[in-house]
Amino acid sequence: MKIFNTKIAGTGSFVPDRVVTNHDLSQRIDTNHNWIVERTGIHERRISDLSKGECPSGMAKIAAQKAIEAANLTVNDIDLILFSATLPDQSMPNTAAVLQEKLGITNHCGALDVNAACSGWVYLLPMADAMIKTGLYKHILVVGSEMLSAFNNWDDRNTCILFGDGCGAAVLGRASENEDSKIFSSILTCDSTKKDHLTLMAGGACKRITHEVLNNNEQWMTMNGQEVFKAAVKTMAGHAEKVVKDANLSMEDIDWFIPHQANLRIIEAVGNRFNIPINKVIVNVDRYANTSSASVPIALDEAIREGKIKRGDHLLLATFGAGLTAGAVCLQY
Ligand code: UT7
Repeated sequence: MKIFNTKIAGTGSFVPDRVVTNHDLSQRIDTNHNWIVERTGIHERRISDLSKGECPSGMAKIAAQKAIEAANLTVNDIDLILFSATLPDQSMPNTAAVLQEKLGITNHCGALDVNAACSGWVYLLPMADAMIKTGLYKHILVVGSEMLSAFNNWDDRNTCILFGDGCGAAVLGRASENEDSKIFSSILTCDSTKKDHLTLMAGGACKRITHEVLNNNEQWMTMNGQEVFKAAVKTMAGHAEKVVKDANLSMEDIDWFIPHQANLRIIEAVGNRFNIPINKVIVNVDRYANTSSASVPIALDEAIREGKIKRGDHLLLATFGAGLTAGAVCLQY
């Protein structure tokens, strides 16, 4: 069987125009700009506006159009849509199906939603890679689109300061014989012993949204921040080291490290573990906060469009999220 190499053919991203600063939050809850910056590195976040269609599929439409254009393709070249969202547009139809229609794709390509929380988009990369390598699909649209503002308790200072909305997308396709692009290695894990540290229990099949749920204020995300922090540093650092080794590379060979944008202290702690200089780390958590599974593809797209990441560069991606899921990928762009 002929094996193909996978390349990131094009990327795109979208963030809403509406900026919410730390100062804005301090008008509502007992917090302040300095605390948030010291503990997280976050200065502001973007919040979507449903009246402008900025739901997960709506944000994804714009990011995906940019990614398809950057890949020099048209919408009907896409033969599979993989869509990561922690909270989809609605339970049915799936958000990937809604996106297919919004993009005007008429080839009836497969359309699948995936939820691995913040790790979702990185989780999808090795899956798409396997399907492209084997020749099953030619052009897979991989989307991470998140509207955390919909389940973020704006009265809970422990969580609400951390999150924002946005979308990142990439088209994965076959590298031609004269291109070096490939996905070298990956790891996907989940430590379910820590699953209760980050939850949104109401709104699924087991706990419907009822008056009682609303009265008890249970419709929001809850988090044990310190436990998530510790697990994130340990797991991301371990995974990053493993995929680089599995790629037969050393940390010095990595041109750009693109970590999940959850907290600048987490990013710095992970980088320090393997001595990756901060000028090789893509950071936008200061501007967008944590956009869950959109964070890595937004950072990737911005760095490509800014001309930082160039063809041939070795990239290291690492993420973690509720579950506690985690993943890392090492690739040549
Ligand atoms: O994609 C995964 C998503 N989750 C994460 O990435 C979360 C990872 N965890 C974190 O980023 C950090 O744990 C936080 C930023 C959430 C919290 O930082 P921390 O350094 O762990 O602070 P802490 O929870 O230990 O709180 C320290 C103090 C507490 O006051 P006392 O008990 O020492 O008097 C908190 O009540 O800071 C207080 N505090 C705040 N103060 C001002 C907690 N939140 C705030 C706030 N503003 N927003």
